[in-house]
Parts: sequence; structure tokens; C-alpha cells
Amino acid sequence: MSILIIAPNRDENIWKKSFIDYDPNIKVFNSRDTFDDESIDCVVVWNHPQGVLKKYKNLKLVYSMGAGVDHVFNDSELPEDIPICKIVDDRLSFSMSNYIIMAILNYHRRFYKYQSDKKNKVWDQESNPEINLKIGILGFGILGKDAAEKLKKLNFDVIGYSLTKKEEKEIDVYFGNKIDLFLSKINVLVCTVPYTKSTHSLLNKDLFNKLKTPTYLINVSRGKVHVEKDILDGIESGKLTGAFLDVFEKEPLPKDSFIWEHDKIQFTPHIASITNVKAVIPQVVKNYKNLLSGNKLINLVNIDKKY
Ligand code: GLV
Repeated sequence: MSILIIAPNRDENIWKKSFIDYDPNIKVFNSRDTFDDESIDCVVVWNHPQGVLKKYKNLKLVYSMGAGVDHVFNDSELPEDIPICKIVDDRLSFSMSNYIIMAILNYHRRFYKYQSDKKNKVWDQESNPEINLKIGILGFGILGKDAAEKLKKLNFDVIGYSLTKKEEKEIDVYFGNKIDLFLSKINVLVCTVPYTKSTHSLLNKDLFNKLKTPTYLINVSRGKVHVEKDILDGIESGKLTGAFLDVFEKEPLPKDSFIWEHDKIQFTPHIASITNVKAVIPQVVKNYKNLLSGNKLINLVNIDKKY
């Protein structure tokens, strides 16, 4: 019984070492080690090569290294009927909410205007220093909800949208077919949806046309949820005031993308909320032990919904 770490573009050794430091009795390998395929009953993955999981005939659990699991479902040869778990961690929520709040405050307090005034030696006390915001959180899962609640505590006007009904006392969360109504009420759109077939290219010009003019866009979910050309057109037509992006259609962002140079797009290289390996090892180990002892798994992914 062993755990195998498969993450070609990440440091597998940090995961391996953290498992061993936490519980020296656990057998753990990274993908370059020599091991018996049949001994592997759990894989911990990030962007594993398609088709490799089939080799592990005794596989009983697939663990995503992060909150997102789209990279797991990318594998068209994913073995069926094996539970998939994801990371749920207060630190992920902490980082994501802080990132969203940072993007919103910079916009709200017109930081980019004052930065440019600084460059041009302009002392402007006349312009309104704050933009009135009505923030919409599209996707009201663990991360979206945490950000919404923290923004509400800062006295921002916040609403949410979720596919399914959410019980929420302080915040109006629209659901089901109320998405157009939700979009018509806001002037900051924060996207925290998971990437699935139904969210592919969701943030496109048709959706932007349902927003108030103008609206500011923040996308921290996945790049394939948005259409970069439509964001550009949206900014040029004045529908969007700008965008703050952490994710892109192609990552790393191609050197010839217009996004590098665009004044009204701020961006970071998919670092909004990164799994803290040491912090999450206990939950992975606990879940692994639940698996071995036949107890209920936590943080299970819904295989039909794919998130
Ligand atoms: C990061 O993008 C994650 O899914 O954890």
C-alpha cells in the first residue's frame, strides 16, 4: 500500500518529504522513483500525463493537489469508479479572498489612476477617489463564499450566484435560471466557478452584454472559463472598465499575448492561491487512512458534476 505523487511541473519531492516528515510509516514515491505498480493505492496528482493512471491496477483514490480538479478530468482515460478528493484548506481560502479583496480595493480606490498621476506629477484632489461598487461573486463554492463574506464584513455591497440554491443569511445568492438577473445588478464581476464543460468560455461577449455598463472583471478560476478576445473587445467598447486576471486561456501566458501590454488589464501568473503543502498533508493522510480503514472520505469530488 503506497502513495504515488505525479506532478510533472511541480516539486514532487516537497510532497514526498512532507508526507514522510508527518508520518514516517507511510510509503510514498514520486514518479521518478522505482516502485511496484501494484503497490499503489493512492495517487496525489497535478496535471498527470493522460492515461498513466490505468497502470495502477489497485488504485483506490485519486487526490488533487489543489482545489481545482479540472486537470484530473482532462485525462480521457481516467479509471472509472475511483473516488477523487480535492484540497479544502483555510489557507487556500485566506489567500484567495485576500487576492480578490486586493484586486477590488485597487479598483475601488482608483489606485491605477493615482499611480499614473504620480508618474505624470499630477496632484488631483478633485476627482472622486472611490468608485461605488456592487460586487457579484459568480460561483458560490467554498472560495467564492469566503470572499463574499469577507467583502460583506468590509461593508461592500455583495451578491452571489450559484447553480444550486445556497442557504446564506447575509448575502443574496441568486441561483438556477436567475443568472441574467444577477448579472444585471452588478458592476464588478468576480469569477470563482470551477472549470467544466458548462463553464467553458462562459465569460464571453454575450455574458458581458448582460452586465451593467461599465463593469470590472476579476477572474481567479480558470483561463478557459473566459474568452480573452472578448475581454479585449469589452474593454475597447467601454463595456468593461478593465480586468484583473490570475488565469489565462494558455499558461504560461504566450509572449505575444496582448495582455502583457494592456494598460487596463492587471494580471498575475496563476498564483492567487497556492496549496501550502505542509498545511494540507494532515488532511490527505487522514483521508488516506479513512480509505484504508473503510471510513467515509472527506472533500470528495462529485464525479457527475466534475467539481
Ligand atoms: C489552483 O488553481 C487550485 O486549483 O488549487
